[in-house]
Amino acid sequence: MASMIEDAINGFYLGDDKLKELTSLMEAEFEKGLCKETNDKAEIKMLPAYVTETPNGKEEGDFLALDLGGTNFRVLLVKIDKGEVQMFNQVYAVSKELMTGTGVQLFDHLTECLWDFLVQHDMMCQLLPIGFTFSFPTKQYGIKKTTLVRWTKGYTATGVVGEDIGELLNTAINKKFKIRCMNFDLKIMSTVVNDTVGTMVSCAFDYPKTCMGLIVGTGTNMCYMEAQEKIKTLEENEVTPGKEMCINTEWGAFGNNSGALNAVITEFDKSVDEDSPNQGQQIYEKMISGMYMGELVRRVVVKLMDAGLMFVGTTSDSILYTSGLSTAFVSQVLSYDYNQSDFDLLKNYISGFGAVATNEDCVVLKRICEAVSLRAADLCAVGVVATAKRVVANRGNVQVIVGVDGSVYRRHPTFKDLLVKKTMQLAPDIDIRFELSTDGSGRGAALVAAVESRIHKLQLK
Ligand code: GLC
Repeated sequence: MASMIEDAINGFYLGDDKLKELTSLMEAEFEKGLCKETNDKAEIKMLPAYVTETPNGKEEGDFLALDLGGTNFRVLLVKIDKGEVQMFNQVYAVSKELMTGTGVQLFDHLTECLWDFLVQHDMMCQLLPIGFTFSFPTKQYGIKKTTLVRWTKGYTATGVVGEDIGELLNTAINKKFKIRCMNFDLKIMSTVVNDTVGTMVSCAFDYPKTCMGLIVGTGTNMCYMEAQEKIKTLEENEVTPGKEMCINTEWGAFGNNSGALNAVITEFDKSVDEDSPNQGQQIYEKMISGMYMGELVRRVVVKLMDAGLMFVGTTSDSILYTSGLSTAFVSQVLSYDYNQSDFDLLKNYISGFGAVATNEDCVVLKRICEAVSLRAADLCAVGVVATAKRVVANRGNVQVIVGVDGSVYRRHPTFKDLLVKKTMQLAPDIDIRFELSTDGSGRGAALVAAVESRIHKLQLK
């Protein structure tokens, strides 16, 4: 019976050879996404983000940033003056009903929040350039038009997939503001930005060598600066030789149909996927990100409880039902050590979930959390290395700075160190540095809007 515990845990340990193999497979998928002929079938879409420059420090002015990507919506006022950035922000909840209702309701709500924010800042009817962080897979047609490819992270609002996000926002703003503002003249310059892009750009403001943007939070994704000549999905007239453009990889979809991850997928991954609203999609993301880490741990625990190997004689509603354990739970468990006084604390914590734990249960639970977390970090390192290799192929063996953000990276007690360590082991020849990015989806999005404004002004002259 003990071997059932070992088998369950061991399934999450991947050796370096396997990880190197996965790195090559991911590099091949990147190539498919960048190639015009294969992009249609490619699972990693490598979406051109039409951001061709990172900040140069000369950006100035006041900007609004909107940030939608999880259970919250944020509105920010960002003031950039002589390299100094000042920010004011307000967080608004997005209820499950809004996430899964109609697109019109969702965008009306976003606009209502924006209105509330402007009222608070005494800026009613005054619209500044907007950087809109929309952290879902989108397809961009130049800087102006961005459509939603598919929803992720529990969103299913109808009438949005395939639509122009900037347009949906503009329509909703127009509708609300026209009634409330006299002579309202809609001249919004809104730039839709993926959170990875905002993360990269915000970090580049502080560290100019930043050329990759990583998110490990509710979801996971990476963007990086690619040589424009290598983005074969661009139209010829969009390519300036010698220039770069940011690519939003949408790497969460790795393993969707190539079978690249089949050899490492466990029965727990399969069941998480089967019970998810986007079955068969975001396979790599489901093995890494915060939305699923707690759920993976929970499914292992439930299997062992069913076999009478954990929490014997107790039942726990939270543990038995989907989403009963969060990634914050995993973080909490990992913050205790393997000693009696920590076990006492952990037992007390577990009792809050209705289960009674023994010392052995504590050990097993901690080992499950460690295994799931380690695998997440290992798989993420695979992606970081595959991306860094592309940068090095373009720029030569320069230092690569990765701007990073996301709740898992920030708050999980071991993820960050595991990620850094494995990245170095998998790519000892590349100088990869991780830097925590300051508010990519707020400050970063405003900076993207600022860079855009700067470039356009230059072009007008
Ligand atoms: C999901 C989204 C992606 C986003 C990531 C991190 O993978 O598809 O666009 O960047 O989550 O929030």
